Formats: sequence, structure tokens, C-alpha cells
Amino acid sequence: MVEKITVIGPGTMGTGIAQAFLAAGFQVVLIGRSEESLQKGLGIIKSRMDKAREKGKLSQEEIDSALNNLKLSTNYDDGKGSSAVIEAVSEITDTKKAVFKLAEEHIGNAILATNTSSIPINELSEAVNDKSRFIGMHFFNPVPVMKPVEVIVGSSTSKNTEQIAIQLISKCGKVPVTVNDYPGFVANSILMPMLNEAIILLEKGVSTKEGIDTIIKLGLNHPMGPLELADYIGLDVCKDIMESIYDETKDLKFKPAGMLVKLVSEGKFGRKSGEGFYKYSK
Ligand code: CAA
Repeated sequence: MVEKITVIGPGTMGTGIAQAFLAAGFQVVLIGRSEESLQKGLGIIKSRMDKAREKGKLSQEEIDSALNNLKLSTNYDDGKGSSAVIEAVSEITDTKKAVFKLAEEHIGNAILATNTSSIPINELSEAVNDKSRFIGMHFFNPVPVMKPVEVIVGSSTSKNTEQIAIQLISKCGKVPVTVNDYPGFVANSILMPMLNEAIILLEKGVSTKEGIDTIIKLGLNHPMGPLELADYIGLDVCKDIMESIYDETKDLKFKPAGMLVKLVSEGKFGRKSGEGFYKYSK
């Protein structure tokens, strides 16, 4: 029987996670809060797959078989029988908690995983009765191609839940790395101060956006410069992550730079909105 997982939240990360499991032959239920958000999510998946096909990385047969295994739904009951529920909704504690309450109520014995980038696992697990099934599974953007997944173990997470998470991640061809519950975990503890510092250097006029990106790209051998990467992740997402870590740590290196706050307030979210530090044709 084909193994089933449920992904909640048809945004950039949720669609990427769904796509990674579809590519590995899983049946995936993608849950959204409206038909409209689900159709938007399906559009993201299809255009990413088309782009990969054009580059010779996916065949039409692989795309057809993946899409056949995908069910879009607004009803949590459709997730019944899943090995895991992976939540990838906005980085807002109350929103995530509400999703987990519904997931535990409607979707049987699945492990309950959050793709949070920064909110403590122990805090989110307060939403559910059985905290032993609660875990963090933090994927990287773009999910279909990025290998690591941070597996975040909370104080009540059982060994069995950790093992199921590790197995699922391995089955979809990714590399699980267990980390303890800590604000920002490993990746964002390191990445967010770097992105913030790049924005502060831009604000101070130390160099142009192209200059900062070129130095880091070529000098540190990163695939993208920090400003380009912030646009790619989403400036709204970067700001949410920084604020969440700053609230927990009060460490100034996580306090979002003024220019980041301003761009987000103007609706300039980076690549997905067509403008951030750079302009993009959609
Ligand atoms: N199946 C499906 N989709 C595929 C695919 C496949 N086999 N192969 C590629 N794709 C998709 C990719 O997902 C990507 O989609 P988007 O349109 O959403 O970007 C697109 O096709 C292009 O991928 P390519 O590999 O062909 O493109 P590339 O060689 O130009 O590399 C890149 C692009 C992988 C983004 C590279 O520039 C890179 O590695 N950049 C850095 C990314 C990074 O640092 N990510 C981490 C962000 S931090 C994070 O995610 C954590 C957090 O909490 C904020």
C-alpha cells in the first residue's frame, strides 16, 4: 500500500514538502483553508515541476504520476490514515497551534510535525494532548532540491516519533539531522544574523546590493548573495523568523533591520511579490 502523509498549508514550503514526498512515491493530502489557496498551491507545484521538466530534471510521466497521488482538501478528515502530518502554515504561534488542535482531533495516530523555522517545539506542542507524537521537521527552500531537514526533538517527543520522522525524511531522499529545541535551531541561528547584517550594511551605504551579494557569492562561495537569498526566502518570512527569535532571546542581532521592516510594510516580500531588494518579472 502506498504510504500517505498530510501536509497543511499550501504556501512555498508546504507545496515544496508535498512535492518532495510525491516525488518519492507517497500519497499526499495537501490541506488548505480555502479552495482558492489550494488552487494557488497547485499552481506553484505545477510551475515548479514544469520548470524542472524544461531543465531535464523531471519527465512528464513523473509529473503525471506525482499529480495523480496528490489530493487537495479543505477537510482535515481526508488526512486519516497518514503516517505523518506536516504543518507548514504562517510562522505565527497561535495559527500553528490552532492547526495542530484540528489535526490531532481529526487525523488518527499520525506523528505531528511542524515545519516551523524558529518557534520552540515545546511551545507549539502545548496545542496537543499527546505531546510524545509532536516533533519539528524543518525543511529548506527550495524543498525539492535542498537535502537537509532539521529534526527538532522537544522535551516530550518520544524516540518512536523521532525514528518515524527520520525514516520518512530518508525515504524522500533527504538528510535528517537531529537538533535540540533552541530558538532558530541551527540553520536560522546562523543564517538570520547574516541576512540582517547584509541589510544593515546596505542601509549604511557600505556597498550596493549587487556589491554585497557579489562579495558573499564569490568570496564565500555561497550559491546566492544574502540579499538575493532573503528575497528568495521571502522578506515577510525572514522578518517573522527574526522577530520570533528576537522575542525569545532578546539578542539584538536578531532584531529585524529597519529596511527589512519597511519593505515588508510596503508589501515588498521579495521574489514571490515581484519586488524586494531586487525586482522580478513573474
Ligand atoms: N523536482 C522538482 N522541482 C525541482 C527539481 C526536481 N527534481 N529540480 C529543481 N526543481 C525546482 C527547484 O525547486 C527550483 O524551484 P523555484 O522555482 O521554486 O526556485 C527550480 O526548479 C530551479 O532549481 P534548479 O536547481 O534548477 O536551479 P539552480 O541550479 O539555479 O539553483 C537554487 C537554484 C537551488 C535555489 C540555488 O541557487 C541555491 O542553492 N540557492 C541557495 C538556497 C538556500 O540557501 N536555501 C536555504 C534557504 S534558508 C531556509 O530555507 C530555511 C529557513 O527556515 C528560512
